[in-house]
Amino acid sequence: LRAEPGAATDAEAAGAPRVVLVTGKGGVGKTTSAAALAVGASRRGMRTLLMSTDVAHSLGDALAIDLRAATAWDETTPIEANLSAQAVDARTAVHASWEVVRDYLLGLLGSAGVDAVIADELIALPGADEIAALLTLGLHAESGVWDLIVIDCAPTAETLRLLSLPELIGWHLDRLLPTQRRVLSAIGPAAAAASGLALPSREVLAVVHEWRRQMLAVRRLVVSPRASVRLVVTPERVVIAEARRTLAALTLHGYAVDHVLVNRLIPVDDDPWRSAWNQAQEDGMAEIVESFRGIPISAAPYLAGEPTGVDALADLEGVTALVAGEEALLDAPVTAPALSVTPEGRDFVLSIEVPFARSADVGVLRRGDDIVVTLGPERRIIALPAVLRRCIVKNASVGKGRLKIRFERDPGLWPHEQ
Ligand SMILES: Nc1ncnc2c1ncn2[C@@H]1O[C@H](COP(=O)(O)OP(=O)(O)O)[C@@H](O)[C@H]1O
Ligand SMILES: [Mg+2]
Repeated sequence: LRAEPGAATDAEAAGAPRVVLVTGKGGVGKTTSAAALAVGASRRGMRTLLMSTDVAHSLGDALAIDLRAATAWDETTPIEANLSAQAVDARTAVHASWEVVRDYLLGLLGSAGVDAVIADELIALPGADEIAALLTLGLHAESGVWDLIVIDCAPTAETLRLLSLPELIGWHLDRLLPTQRRVLSAIGPAAAAASGLALPSREVLAVVHEWRRQMLAVRRLVVSPRASVRLVVTPERVVIAEARRTLAALTLHGYAVDHVLVNRLIPVDDDPWRSAWNQAQEDGMAEIVESFRGIPISAAPYLAGEPTGVDALADLEGVTALVAGEEALLDAPVTAPALSVTPEGRDFVLSIEVPFARSADVGVLRRGDDIVVTLGPERRIIALPAVLRRCIVKNASVGKGRLKIRFERDPGLWPHEQ
């Protein structure tokens, strides 16, 4: 899924920055961890932009500064040497030219007799915050100003939506553009004017083309070896369960998760209240290690107070320790996700990297919406992506270091195909 033909990116050629997207369930510490990562990296010499795409924007609180949504994509707030911050939302201008398209659409609706206020509502872009965030990211990536862009994302569901947008928008624009060009060339601008139909001008088409180009560039960047996702969790059952589903969904979309950060680990103590929590968190930690095997995991302690301001964030980063795997270095390419799902005829094949394994070593077990893969004493629980939850395991095989599990559609769950 990660290998896209001809994916040598424009951005990469121009020395694209490393992009780290930080996400996880609401309240687990995404903003704090993203800020701590950015402060640490910038103090080690990387020119870092810390960008918030969460409309809740608590980045200012974490940094202990007043940070408002930027009015233009290149408006960033310097924090300290090598570090700037930015909050982005729909009001952040990515392109003065959106106005061009907007005016065209308003005119079109107006000539169709639509009331101006209703017209305004109608053209409010769905996902405008996300589109602005993606276009801003693309523009920063092309600017050559940053070595690292850390993105404090919205909670998981919105982030998944954000990350599936570039492909989706590219797909729509691809279908929209040729049609408009065909209409123009078929009847000609003069005839179009005579018909009273306001066809998009060259200027409008140019803007839409530019969007398409930028969206595709962003998509290539975020699935390239320059980008990865860091999942923040706390050692609690519900949080872990959601993180596993997130990992499955991200992998399906072609995003590499290269780090799991376990936040708010309560320091060990023998008073009864604390030791009960210590035990629960220890169990949670064991489940995390089992669920995210192969991905480096680190842990941050539950501090006695809220870590706000750059120095407190740097301290938090300093006491964050690796608990499994090897630290993924920010200047090394991200390794491709080890899991992919591909359609084969009417079946789907889930393919998982199992280096050095022989088929006798590998076990596969379906457990509800999960697949449990055992490899000798090792075990990995994989939450199935939605499409596979509606399928039945047909067979599994091991070869060339990959485990392939074939799924066939469950006839009861694909009724429209009967
Ligand atoms: N390791 C930690 N120790 C103590 N407080 C923390 C820690 N991590 C986060 N917090 C605090 O928890 C709250 C929520 O964190 P935040 O980073 O805003 O979460 P999110 O962005 O996931 O909603 C904030 O008040 C933050 O200061
Ligand atoms: Mg936050």
